[in-house]
Formats: sequence, C-alpha cells, structure tokens
Amino acid sequence: QTIENGSFEWSAPSNIALVKYWGKKANQIPANPSVSFTLKNCKTITKLVFTKKNNSENFSFDLLFEGKPKEDFKPKIQKFFERIEQYLPFLKEYHFTIDTQNTFPHSSGIASSASGMAALAMNLMSLEKALNPEMSEKYFYQKASFLARLGSGSACRSVKGQIVAWGNHANIEGSSDEFGLEFPYSIHENFKKYQDTILLVDKGEKQVSSTVGHDLMHNHPFAEKRFAQAHKNLDKLINIFENGNLEAFIEIVESEALILHAMMMTSMPYFILMKPNTLEIINAIWKFRKATQIPVCFTLDAGANVHVLYPENVKDEVLQFIQKELVGYCQNAQYICDEIGEGATKI
Ligand code: PMV
Repeated sequence: QTIENGSFEWSAPSNIALVKYWGKKANQIPANPSVSFTLKNCKTITKLVFTKKNNSENFSFDLLFEGKPKEDFKPKIQKFFERIEQYLPFLKEYHFTIDTQNTFPHSSGIASSASGMAALAMNLMSLEKALNPEMSEKYFYQKASFLARLGSGSACRSVKGQIVAWGNHANIEGSSDEFGLEFPYSIHENFKKYQDTILLVDKGEKQVSSTVGHDLMHNHPFAEKRFAQAHKNLDKLINIFENGNLEAFIEIVESEALILHAMMMTSMPYFILMKPNTLEIINAIWKFRKATQIPVCFTLDAGANVHVLYPENVKDEVLQFIQKELVGYCQNAQYICDEIGEGATKI
C-alpha cells in the first residue's frame, strides 16, 4: 500500500494519576506502576497533514500551535520522532504538518504533554493503519499507547479507557511497562462520571520539568520504599474500584499526592512545588469533608494546582463549596470543571 498524501485528526485528553508515576528507567520504562482517571474536557486536538517526499534522509515537519508556527516545541517532536522511528519506518518518507491546539487555557499550569503526545501518536497510528489495513483494533490502541509513552510517559494513559493502569503489576492481568491498559476489572458505580475540578493556583512555568523530577529518583534515599509502596497502593485501589469504598479511595489518593511532593522535598536538589494557597485549599477540603461527610478529596501533579475529586452525586454541594471557599485561592479565580472521560477520539 502506498499513500501520497492526506490528513487525520484526533483529540486526546489529559489524565490525572491516582497512584503516581515518579521515577523511570531507560527507554521511558516506569520505576513503578501507576493508574489514572482519563479526563474529558481538558484535551489536545491535533490535525496531521502528510505528503510523500522524494527523499527520506531526514525528518521533515512543521508545527502549528493554535494556528501559528511554534518553533520551541520542535526539538521535543524531533526527539519523539527519533525514538519512534524504529517502530514507524515510514516517518522519514513524509513531510508532516502538525496543527495542534488545547481546550484548556495556555500556560494554565496544566501539563499538555500527556494529551499532546497522545494526540500525535493517534494520528501517526492512523497513517500506520492506512498503510497496513489488516491491523486489529487492539493492536492499534496498544501500539498508539506504546508510542505515546515514548513521547511522554504519562501520555500512554491518555489513549483508551476511563481508568488506565500503566506498568507491570502482579495483580493486573495484561499490565505492561510499555503501554497503558484499560483497567480490566469491574468498576463500582461510585466512580461513574467521577468529577475533577482543577483549581489553578499557580499558572507559572514549572519549577522542575518532569524529566528532571524523574531523574531525581535515581539515588533518592527513599526510592525503593516508594516504588514498593506504589505496588501496594495500586493493589488496594483494585479492590476499591470494585467495592466503591470512597473512604479508602480518599486515603490512598491523598496519600499518593503528598508522597509525590514528599519525594521532591527529599531529593537532592530539593524542591517545594506547593504554594501557600495549595495548603490553604487542602486544609479547607479537610475541614469541609469533616463537617459534611461529603467524600471530596484532592490530588496534585508536580505543581501547585489542586485537583478536587468527588463523585457525581455530590456535584452541586461541592461546586458551591468551591465557589464560596476555594475560588479565592486560585489565580484570577480560575478553575476548570472536568470529569472522567473515555480517551482519544477520531475527528
Ligand atoms: O509523563 P511525565 O514524564 O510528564 O510525568 C508525569 C508525572 C506526574 O504527572 C507527576 C505523575 C503521573 O503519574 O502522571
């Protein structure tokens, strides 16, 4: 099969880890397994236009971000192409225009690497499938996740499924260090349409890139204990997803968020990525939960923003609480309402 030119377009969502990936080995292999909720509204939409070239010496691509050329993203894409070329041998035969945009505000402190790399990987897999039409759907999504991982580790959890596990785990059949797996066991109703309201506490540039952060887990004094603990926490979550025990869910999720930050505070060099308002929000959530018994909790990424997680049936009460008591801690009163989604979608 030869294809001269054409285009594909995919959207891929961001995801929020419940058990955190922090620390990696060579080739984007995670030091411990992780699991995340796929989001729905925070996503990247990428159109890939391709034209066959008459030489295949170099990678050739243009990058448009929100319609305008974006030179500073190019080295990341170049590196991604170099990593995946051995799995997509046609890469140097085409010129690509990568036209990409995010649904969430630019520089909101929400990482776009997961959704961005997943959306690009989906498009490249569409071309791979056009060239090899007999490919199964399972293979298509698995390889898309495999490729996305090579762009940004957590991107492999943004491809398919509401809950995605990544990394070998003894009690998750089919789990792999090489790609994300749609959580294969039953999920309790309590997690249906689970809500994630993202409070934008600090929209500034990240103090520590995740690449540097993962590296700090090499020679980290607590690394081995941490990796073992991630396995245990994931074990507990497997049961919680099935039995719907929200109290137990909250305990694991909040602990994982604080452990992620504890790892950064205890590495060398050390970092504090929370801001005073991050702590104000955490304390307010604890106070509200104690007073109302409403099962709302927080998680954090490698930054100061807070993800507020809660079941759909308490949405009104929690949004009221957020508007009344938490919005004041957000930069420009900004927050984003999201919920569990399904993964990447072809447009
Ligand atoms: O995908 P990366 O390399 O940007 O790492 C992301 C790490 C965290 O977001 C902090 C945790 C996670 O599991 O998503």
